[in-house]
Amino acid sequence: MSESVRGDCRQRVAEHQRPALLRAENLTKVYRSGPEQVVVFEGLNLEVFAGEFVALVGESGSGKTTLLHLLAALDTPTEGEVYFDLQRVGAFSSRERALYRNAKLGFVWQMHYLLPEFTALENVMLPQLIAGRDFRCAQTRARRLLEEVGLAPAAGRRAGELSGGEQQRVALARALSNQPAVLLADEPTGNLDHKTAARMTDLLEHLHRTHGLTSVLATHNLELARRADRTLRLADGRLTETVIPSHDTMTP
Ligand SMILES: Nc1ncnc2c1ncn2[C@@H]1O[C@H](COP(=O)(O)OP(=O)(O)OP(=O)(O)O)[C@@H](O)[C@H]1O
Ligand SMILES: [Mg+2]
Repeated sequence: MSESVRGDCRQRVAEHQRPALLRAENLTKVYRSGPEQVVVFEGLNLEVFAGEFVALVGESGSGKTTLLHLLAALDTPTEGEVYFDLQRVGAFSSRERALYRNAKLGFVWQMHYLLPEFTALENVMLPQLIAGRDFRCAQTRARRLLEEVGLAPAAGRRAGELSGGEQQRVALARALSNQPAVLLADEPTGNLDHKTAARMTDLLEHLHRTHGLTSVLATHNLELARRADRTLRLADGRLTETVIPSHDTMTP
Protein backbone atom coordinates (compact mmCIF):
# COMPACT_ATOMS: atom_id res chain seq x y z
CA MET A 1 0.00 0.00 0.00
CA SER A 2 1.38 3.43 -0.94
CA GLU A 3 2.13 6.10 1.65
CA SER A 4 -0.67 8.36 0.40
CA VAL A 5 -3.31 5.62 0.40
CA ARG A 6 -2.34 4.56 3.89
CA GLY A 7 -2.52 8.19 5.02
CA ASP A 8 -5.92 8.66 3.39
CA CYS A 9 -7.38 5.56 5.05
CA ARG A 10 -6.11 6.56 8.44
CA GLN A 11 -7.59 10.01 7.97
CA ARG A 12 -10.94 8.65 6.84
CA VAL A 13 -11.19 6.36 9.87
CA ALA A 14 -10.24 9.26 12.12
CA GLU A 15 -12.81 11.52 10.50
CA HIS A 16 -15.56 9.09 11.34
CA GLN A 17 -14.43 8.81 14.92
CA ARG A 18 -13.83 12.39 15.96
CA PRO A 19 -13.40 15.95 14.74
CA ALA A 20 -9.99 17.35 13.88
CA LEU A 21 -7.86 18.35 16.86
CA LEU A 22 -6.37 21.24 14.91
CA ARG A 23 -8.23 22.90 12.08
CA ALA A 24 -7.61 25.88 9.88
CA GLU A 25 -10.64 27.15 8.00
CA ASN A 26 -10.42 29.53 5.05
CA LEU A 27 -7.18 30.94 6.34
CA THR A 28 -5.82 34.01 4.60
CA LYS A 29 -2.62 35.79 5.55
CA VAL A 30 -1.56 39.05 4.00
CA TYR A 31 1.48 40.88 5.32
CA ARG A 32 1.44 44.62 4.85
CA SER A 33 4.43 46.89 5.08
CA GLY A 34 3.57 50.38 3.91
CA PRO A 35 2.02 50.27 0.43
CA GLU A 36 3.45 46.78 -0.19
CA GLN A 37 1.48 43.66 0.56
CA VAL A 38 2.43 40.00 0.47
CA VAL A 39 -0.42 37.54 0.08
CA VAL A 40 1.03 34.33 1.56
CA PHE A 41 -2.14 32.24 1.17
CA GLU A 42 -5.85 32.72 0.71
CA GLY A 43 -8.69 30.45 1.81
CA LEU A 44 -6.39 27.69 3.06
CA ASN A 45 -7.95 24.70 4.83
CA LEU A 46 -6.23 22.14 7.03
CA GLU A 47 -7.38 19.39 9.36
CA VAL A 48 -5.03 17.51 11.65
CA PHE A 49 -6.43 14.59 13.63
CA ALA A 50 -5.34 13.50 17.07
CA GLY A 51 -2.28 11.26 16.86
CA GLU A 52 -1.33 12.25 13.32
CA PHE A 53 2.23 13.03 12.28
CA VAL A 54 1.95 15.61 9.50
CA ALA A 55 4.86 17.00 7.51
CA LEU A 56 4.58 20.37 5.82
CA VAL A 57 6.87 20.89 2.84
CA GLY A 58 7.21 23.61 0.24
CA GLU A 59 9.65 26.05 -1.26
CA SER A 60 11.28 28.71 0.82
CA GLY A 61 8.78 31.56 1.16
CA SER A 62 5.73 29.36 0.51
CA GLY A 63 4.34 30.14 3.97
CA LYS A 64 5.16 27.16 6.21
CA THR A 65 6.39 29.26 9.13
CA THR A 66 3.49 31.66 8.68
CA LEU A 67 1.03 28.77 8.89
CA LEU A 68 2.71 27.34 12.02
CA HIS A 69 2.60 30.79 13.65
CA LEU A 70 -1.11 31.05 12.93
CA LEU A 71 -1.77 27.55 14.31
CA ALA A 72 0.19 28.52 17.43
CA ALA A 73 -1.72 31.80 17.83
CA LEU A 74 1.57 33.66 17.62
CA ASP A 75 0.06 35.70 14.82
CA THR A 76 -3.49 36.44 13.71
CA PRO A 77 -4.92 35.55 10.31
CA THR A 78 -6.11 38.30 7.98
CA GLU A 79 -9.21 36.16 7.45
CA GLY A 80 -10.37 32.74 8.55
CA GLU A 81 -10.16 30.80 11.76
CA VAL A 82 -7.99 28.32 13.61
CA TYR A 83 -9.75 25.81 15.84
CA PHE A 84 -8.14 23.74 18.56
CA ASP A 85 -10.31 20.93 19.86
CA LEU A 86 -13.37 22.69 18.38
CA GLN A 87 -12.54 25.95 20.16
CA ARG A 88 -12.04 29.09 18.10
CA VAL A 89 -8.50 30.24 18.84
CA GLY A 90 -9.31 33.74 17.53
CA ALA A 91 -11.88 34.13 20.29
CA PHE A 92 -9.40 33.34 23.08
CA SER A 93 -8.62 36.12 25.55
CA SER A 94 -4.91 36.95 25.87
CA ARG A 95 -4.80 34.78 29.01
CA GLU A 96 -6.46 31.84 27.24
CA ARG A 97 -4.07 32.27 24.33
CA ALA A 98 -1.08 32.13 26.66
CA LEU A 99 -2.55 29.06 28.33
CA TYR A 100 -3.12 27.43 24.93
CA ARG A 101 0.52 27.95 24.02
CA ASN A 102 1.92 26.93 27.39
CA ALA A 103 -0.28 23.94 28.16
CA LYS A 104 -1.49 22.51 24.86
CA LEU A 105 1.37 23.18 22.44
CA GLY A 106 5.04 22.34 22.33
CA PHE A 107 7.29 24.18 19.88
CA VAL A 108 10.60 23.47 18.30
CA TRP A 109 11.76 26.35 16.12
CA GLN A 110 14.79 26.36 13.85
CA MET A 111 16.32 29.00 16.08
CA HIS A 112 15.62 27.15 19.29
CA TYR A 113 15.34 30.23 21.54
CA LEU A 114 16.87 28.56 24.57
CA LEU A 115 18.05 30.86 27.34
CA PRO A 116 21.82 30.55 26.83
CA GLU A 117 22.84 31.54 30.36
CA PHE A 118 20.52 28.97 31.94
CA THR A 119 21.36 25.29 32.19
CA ALA A 120 19.72 22.69 29.97
CA LEU A 121 17.77 21.50 33.00
CA GLU A 122 16.54 25.01 33.84
CA ASN A 123 15.46 25.58 30.24
CA VAL A 124 13.31 22.43 30.36
CA MET A 125 11.94 23.36 33.80
CA LEU A 126 10.94 26.88 32.89
CA PRO A 127 7.66 26.26 30.98
CA GLN A 128 6.56 23.99 33.82
CA LEU A 129 7.26 26.64 36.46
CA ILE A 130 5.33 29.17 34.35
CA ALA A 131 2.46 26.68 34.32
CA GLY A 132 2.59 26.58 38.13
CA ARG A 133 4.12 23.14 38.59
CA ASP A 134 5.92 22.47 41.85
CA PHE A 135 9.71 23.02 41.59
CA ARG A 136 10.70 19.45 42.52
CA CYS A 137 8.16 17.91 40.13
CA ALA A 138 9.38 20.21 37.34
CA GLN A 139 12.97 19.22 38.07
CA THR A 140 12.19 15.50 38.06
CA ARG A 141 10.27 15.73 34.80
CA ALA A 142 12.96 17.87 33.18
CA ARG A 143 15.61 15.31 34.15
CA ARG A 144 13.52 12.50 32.70
CA LEU A 145 12.95 14.37 29.45
CA LEU A 146 16.65 15.18 29.08
CA GLU A 147 17.34 11.51 29.61
CA GLU A 148 14.81 10.64 26.86
CA VAL A 149 16.60 12.90 24.37
CA GLY A 150 19.96 11.43 25.41
CA LEU A 151 21.21 14.50 27.25
CA ALA A 152 21.15 13.50 30.92
CA PRO A 153 24.90 14.19 31.25
CA ALA A 154 24.41 17.75 29.92
CA ALA A 155 21.63 18.69 32.36
CA GLY A 156 23.85 21.03 34.38
CA ARG A 157 25.60 22.67 31.42
CA ARG A 158 24.67 26.10 30.16
CA ALA A 159 22.52 25.90 27.03
CA GLY A 160 24.72 28.42 25.22
CA GLU A 161 27.71 26.09 25.57
CA LEU A 162 26.01 23.09 23.93
CA SER A 163 26.39 22.12 20.29
CA GLY A 164 23.65 22.97 17.78
CA GLY A 165 22.36 19.39 17.77
CA GLU A 166 22.39 19.23 21.57
CA GLN A 167 20.55 22.53 21.79
CA GLN A 168 17.90 21.23 19.39
CA ARG A 169 17.42 18.20 21.64
CA VAL A 170 17.10 20.43 24.72
CA ALA A 171 14.50 22.47 22.77
CA LEU A 172 12.64 19.24 22.04
CA ALA A 173 12.71 18.24 25.71
CA ARG A 174 11.49 21.72 26.61
CA ALA A 175 8.67 21.46 24.05
CA LEU A 176 7.45 18.32 25.79
CA SER A 177 7.79 19.65 29.32
CA ASN A 178 4.09 20.43 29.84
CA GLN A 179 2.82 17.25 28.18
CA PRO A 180 1.44 19.08 25.14
CA ALA A 181 -1.28 17.66 22.93
CA VAL A 182 0.34 19.13 19.83
CA LEU A 183 3.97 19.44 18.78
CA LEU A 184 4.70 22.15 16.21
CA ALA A 185 8.18 22.12 14.76
CA ASP A 186 9.70 24.45 12.20
CA GLU A 187 12.76 23.02 10.46
CA PRO A 188 13.73 20.92 13.48
CA THR A 189 16.66 19.48 11.53
CA GLY A 190 17.47 22.68 9.67
CA ASN A 191 20.85 23.57 11.11
CA LEU A 192 22.12 20.06 11.67
CA ASP A 193 24.58 17.92 9.73
CA HIS A 194 23.25 14.84 7.98
CA LYS A 195 24.00 12.36 10.77
CA THR A 196 22.69 14.59 13.55
CA ALA A 197 19.59 15.38 11.48
CA ALA A 198 18.95 11.65 11.05
CA ARG A 199 19.23 11.17 14.81
CA MET A 200 16.84 14.08 15.42
CA THR A 201 14.40 12.56 12.89
CA ASP A 202 14.44 9.23 14.76
CA LEU A 203 13.94 11.04 18.04
CA LEU A 204 11.03 13.13 16.76
CA GLU A 205 9.27 10.04 15.45
CA HIS A 206 9.95 8.09 18.65
CA LEU A 207 8.71 10.89 20.93
CA HIS A 208 5.67 11.45 18.71
CA ARG A 209 4.64 7.84 19.31
CA THR A 210 5.64 7.46 22.97
CA HIS A 211 4.16 10.78 24.10
CA GLY A 212 0.92 10.33 22.16
CA LEU A 213 1.48 13.58 20.30
CA THR A 214 -0.19 15.17 17.33
CA SER A 215 2.70 16.62 15.34
CA VAL A 216 2.93 19.18 12.55
CA LEU A 217 6.48 19.61 11.26
CA ALA A 218 7.60 22.05 8.59
CA THR A 219 10.70 20.72 6.91
CA HIS A 220 12.94 20.70 3.86
CA ASN A 221 14.28 17.33 5.00
CA LEU A 222 12.48 14.69 2.95
CA GLU A 223 13.77 11.88 5.11
CA LEU A 224 11.79 13.44 7.96
CA ALA A 225 8.77 14.08 5.71
CA ARG A 226 8.80 10.45 4.62
CA ARG A 227 8.26 9.34 8.23
CA ALA A 228 5.02 11.31 8.45
CA ASP A 229 1.53 9.82 8.18
CA ARG A 230 0.73 12.55 5.66
CA THR A 231 2.84 15.08 3.81
CA LEU A 232 1.27 18.35 2.73
CA ARG A 233 2.90 20.63 0.20
CA LEU A 234 2.35 24.36 0.39
CA ALA A 235 2.71 25.97 -3.05
CA ASP A 236 1.12 29.05 -4.60
CA GLY A 237 -0.95 29.56 -1.47
CA ARG A 238 -2.48 26.09 -1.68
CA LEU A 239 -2.03 23.00 0.44
CA THR A 240 -2.10 19.61 -1.26
CA GLU A 241 -1.29 16.07 -0.15
CA THR A 242 1.90 14.79 -1.68
CA VAL A 243 4.02 11.67 -1.78
CA ILE A 244 7.77 12.02 -1.46
CA PRO A 245 9.72 9.94 -4.01
CA SER A 246 12.12 7.62 -2.25
CA HIS A 247 15.28 8.90 -4.01
CA ASP A 248 14.88 12.56 -2.98
CA THR A 249 16.58 13.74 0.18
CA MET A 250 16.03 17.48 0.06
CA THR A 251 13.07 19.53 -1.05
CA PRO A 252 13.37 23.04 -2.47
N1 LIG B 1 6.64 39.70 9.10
C1 LIG B 1 6.56 39.66 7.78
N2 LIG B 1 6.31 40.79 7.06
C2 LIG B 1 6.22 40.74 5.73
N3 LIG B 1 6.34 39.61 4.99
C3 LIG B 1 6.59 38.47 5.65
C4 LIG B 1 6.72 38.43 7.08
N4 LIG B 1 6.96 37.14 7.45
C5 LIG B 1 6.99 36.44 6.31
N5 LIG B 1 6.77 37.22 5.24
C6 LIG B 1 6.70 36.78 3.84
O1 LIG B 1 5.71 35.76 3.76
C7 LIG B 1 6.11 34.73 2.87
C8 LIG B 1 6.09 33.39 3.59
O2 LIG B 1 7.15 33.38 4.55
P1 LIG B 1 7.42 32.12 5.49
O3 LIG B 1 8.49 32.52 6.43
O4 LIG B 1 6.13 31.69 6.07
O5 LIG B 1 7.92 31.03 4.43
P2 LIG B 1 8.51 29.56 4.69
O6 LIG B 1 7.75 28.62 3.83
O7 LIG B 1 8.55 29.29 6.14
O8 LIG B 1 9.99 29.72 4.10
P3 LIG B 1 11.35 28.96 4.58
O9 LIG B 1 11.29 27.57 4.00
O10 LIG B 1 12.43 29.79 3.93
O11 LIG B 1 11.42 28.99 6.07
C9 LIG B 1 7.47 35.15 2.31
O12 LIG B 1 7.27 35.76 1.08
C10 LIG B 1 7.97 36.13 3.34
O13 LIG B 1 8.82 37.09 2.76
MG1 LIG C 1 10.10 28.94 7.50
